[in-house]
Amino acid sequence: MAAEAITTEDYKAFRVFLEDASGIVLGDNKQYLVTSRLTRLMSDNEIITFGSLMGRMKSDQRLRQRIMDAMTTNETSWFRDSYPFDILKEKLLPEILKKQKPTIRIWSAACSTGQEPYSLSMMVQEYQQSNPGSLTTDSVQIIGTDISPRVLGIARSGCYEGVAVSRGLAPERQKRFFRETPDGWSVQGDIQKRVSFRELNLMQNYALMGRFDIIYCRNVLIYFSTDLKRDILARMSKCLNPDGYLVLGGSESISNYSDEFNLIRWKNGVIYQLKS
Ligand SMILES: C[S@@+](CC[C@H](N)C(=O)[O-])C[C@H]1O[C@@H](n2cnc3c(N)ncnc32)[C@H](O)[C@@H]1O
Repeated sequence: MAAEAITTEDYKAFRVFLEDASGIVLGDNKQYLVTSRLTRLMSDNEIITFGSLMGRMKSDQRLRQRIMDAMTTNETSWFRDSYPFDILKEKLLPEILKKQKPTIRIWSAACSTGQEPYSLSMMVQEYQQSNPGSLTTDSVQIIGTDISPRVLGIARSGCYEGVAVSRGLAPERQKRFFRETPDGWSVQGDIQKRVSFRELNLMQNYALMGRFDIIYCRNVLIYFSTDLKRDILARMSKCLNPDGYLVLGGSESISNYSDEFNLIRWKNGVIYQLKS
């Protein structure tokens, strides 16, 4: 069943729904994006017009969830951009370890299918191996969160196939940190043990998350409005321990959105540290 073209009114209403529900801001002329992402879902549910989709989703929580899943961009890969992972191993872990904390907590906010938190766990493992006695298996906790239950399902399984396992992963690390199973490549037990996942919409309250030493919030703020970026950064700053670090995506910056962080330059990039 082919979906009919989206009307201007329906597009307006859809933009409001999506921003209210997820923070994602759609530009003025993104009807083609909405159509291409929702055509399959509409046909699966035998919905022809966007008007009826908007009507149905008001009373259908599952449909709303599927719409949000379809509208989020879940692009990710192992060791994406490499810098955030190198800095963990070479600078942040050694610095935080000097404080002799019993547990180091890292939050991978908007973690998609889990490649970011598992790559962080692999870095911790490599650090542990080259600095014997520096860490125990449970001295680092990594918590991955995302708005999408679908991507979190893949993240929790820790099992990847085809392109998903090879993107960004050196064959040597694949051999060391994964085992091949009939369903695909599974992240090894030690790497998985440090990582847990939770559903969390970044627009909502972070009170249950606790305090972190480092927050990775990469490649998600770009989808949000200026006000929401400011609000998220302000609330994240409250989740950081004193001197805690914030790592953003390569094309993201806090300038204009927060003055609660100092910029730290390291090698060819930057991260942020909570002001004392
Ligand atoms: C492009 S991925 C980034 C994944 C990973 N951080 C990286 O850089 O490779 C963006 C993720 O943000 C999630 N997302 C979008 N809006 C969100 C929200 N309001 N709260 C939490 N996660 C959200 C999406 O579901 C998606 O998995």
